[in-house]
Amino acid sequence: MAETIEASLKEQRRFEPFEEFARQANMNDPNVYKRAEDDLEGFWEELAGNIDWYKKWDSVLNWEPPHAEWFTGGKLNASYNCLDRHIEKRGDKTAILWEGEMGEVRTYTYRELLDATGRFANALKGLGIKKGDIVTIYLPMIPEAAIAMLACARIGAPHSVVFAGFSADALAQRMNDAQSKFVITCDGYSRRGKVLDHKGKTDEGVAKTGDVEKVIVVKHADNDIVMQPGRDIWWHELLGSAEPSCEPELMDSEDMLFLMYTSGTTGMPKGVVHTTGGYMVGTHVTANWIFDLKENDVYWCTADVGWITGHSYIVYGPLSNGSTVVMYEGAPDYPDKDRFWKIVEKHRVTIFYTAPTAIRVFMKWGQEIPAQHDLSSLRLIGSVGEPINPSAWLWYYENIGGSRCPLVDTWWQTETGMVLITPLPGLTTLKPGSATKPFPGIKAAVLDDSGNQVAGGQGGNLAIQAPWPGMIRAVYQDEKRFIDTYWSKWGVGTYFSGDGARQDEDGCFWVLGRVDDVIKVAGHRLGTMEIESSLVSHPAVAEAAVVGMYDELKGEAIFCYVTLEGTAIESEELRKELVGHVANEIGSIARPKGIVFADDLPKTRSGKIMRRILKAIADGTDVGNITTLQNPEAVEVLKRKLEEFNSGLG
Ligand code: PRX
Repeated sequence: MAETIEASLKEQRRFEPFEEFARQANMNDPNVYKRAEDDLEGFWEELAGNIDWYKKWDSVLNWEPPHAEWFTGGKLNASYNCLDRHIEKRGDKTAILWEGEMGEVRTYTYRELLDATGRFANALKGLGIKKGDIVTIYLPMIPEAAIAMLACARIGAPHSVVFAGFSADALAQRMNDAQSKFVITCDGYSRRGKVLDHKGKTDEGVAKTGDVEKVIVVKHADNDIVMQPGRDIWWHELLGSAEPSCEPELMDSEDMLFLMYTSGTTGMPKGVVHTTGGYMVGTHVTANWIFDLKENDVYWCTADVGWITGHSYIVYGPLSNGSTVVMYEGAPDYPDKDRFWKIVEKHRVTIFYTAPTAIRVFMKWGQEIPAQHDLSSLRLIGSVGEPINPSAWLWYYENIGGSRCPLVDTWWQTETGMVLITPLPGLTTLKPGSATKPFPGIKAAVLDDSGNQVAGGQGGNLAIQAPWPGMIRAVYQDEKRFIDTYWSKWGVGTYFSGDGARQDEDGCFWVLGRVDDVIKVAGHRLGTMEIESSLVSHPAVAEAAVVGMYDELKGEAIFCYVTLEGTAIESEELRKELVGHVANEIGSIARPKGIVFADDLPKTRSGKIMRRILKAIADGTDVGNITTLQNPEAVEVLKRKLEEFNSGLG
């Protein structure tokens, strides 16, 4: 195995599309790229015909950089497109196939999903929720998460889903920013066999918000919880008394469909605004062409609905295509390390979409584990969320895809809403480690800091030079941040992704990772500033600097340099306390891998902490020229501390 990979890396292996796959692929016309390039608006207009509209748009695109409007004047409803329009043809087809961690299975046909969505939409209306009210959804991976999203979409109340693994503080922060008065949560959920008290965490978060009116609680784990009279309502009681039929609200193409908070380069996550028409067109067609969705497919994306991948490629993309979508509640290693492959085998999953971190973990666990299961139902596999290293790509391709499934490495972001760089499985030559080509109609480039195209395979910034339908419309109530973050590096017409990339001689893109203060820990997006703010909120901490440290499995791990307040004393207990403090304030995904106490951090003469140097120290790579520092001696001290830390003494 190792030899195959070594050889393939040397050879720069390429994988041509499988002929049989290409023949049946939803998109197998090589002219599609040229067609889109020649007439961008005509291309997207044609695709918009795959979505049902109550009223056709007046114009395809109004682009006043950096503000885009897509399908202006068009009227539609996202939940109608995911549900109602399928009833005649596939009302009895399974829409959601859910498996709980304990092995229980629940399914919803399209008809049942429409019924539940309609009831819940009416229940929301009954509580006084109306078009434009932002509803927070704080649910784990249970079908009610999708139902809640679709019900919000049905009545035009934008949802803001907060990842269930985030802390009470993170929930409060997001609810306060969105001025959201309603939250949908559950009693508890199962993680590695233990029931987590989710309602308790919700209560703690809600207590830190202004005026939350209603807390809707799904009874899921049946753990003991406290319901606050007048504020808290059981989901099943609401649903039981509600009518199933709810007319979808006619939404303007540019009405907000949802808000999704994502980490940026400050302590406060950004509320990324997505609207209805363009997002639905974009997610529908990308899901259809990239995953090649067919009537009989059983599609499983292992992401959580709390992240953008869950929005676009568990809910809106696949359901608007009428697909059967698998949802799994729990951990990949519960009760055993073969849980995912058991699910693939049991439900005859045909399309499987996961993150590189998961693949690297499976690799570490060994190929014997998937080999014990019949994975022959799979016909396409995908990767998302972070760069996939060629050896993980090849392992995935061979051991999960059985060397017979196209592997699509899809690059995109919360802000892009839809996949932008990806192979099309019936057309594209695959290269392990490369997300390959921009989707038709997407104008991507690698630019240097002055905006010149970088030539000859050199690294630069990944930029998008033309608007696309699923693009971010705003940072919620923060126009300045919207412009400063995405549209000011080279001027308002060019989108700055925050990623580094290079383009090879065939025009394929190799995404290298973030160039800003965002880090990806096991594919989860976190801001180093958020973690620093959390650290300095501890009374013992005077100053903190956080960097993403290279991690073989997670891609990056969180590493912190902490300067203590005068009276605080370095100790192992304090280190543990700080690790716990961050996990408690943000969520356990933000748990630091290491903390080093430092009296002095390397700074420029103007007093700016040099994170680049801190990262090099953490990674054990060359720190480069340090002569211009105010305190170059700090570097040696930190290097020594790192050595101590790495040898387990620190
Ligand atoms: O750094 C890129 C990485 O994930 C970032 C976006 O994170 P988020 O908004 O949480 O969305 C993740 C799911 C779409 C990007 O800026 N990223 C995502 N996909 C890839 C990737 N890096 C390399 N290759 C990918 N396929």
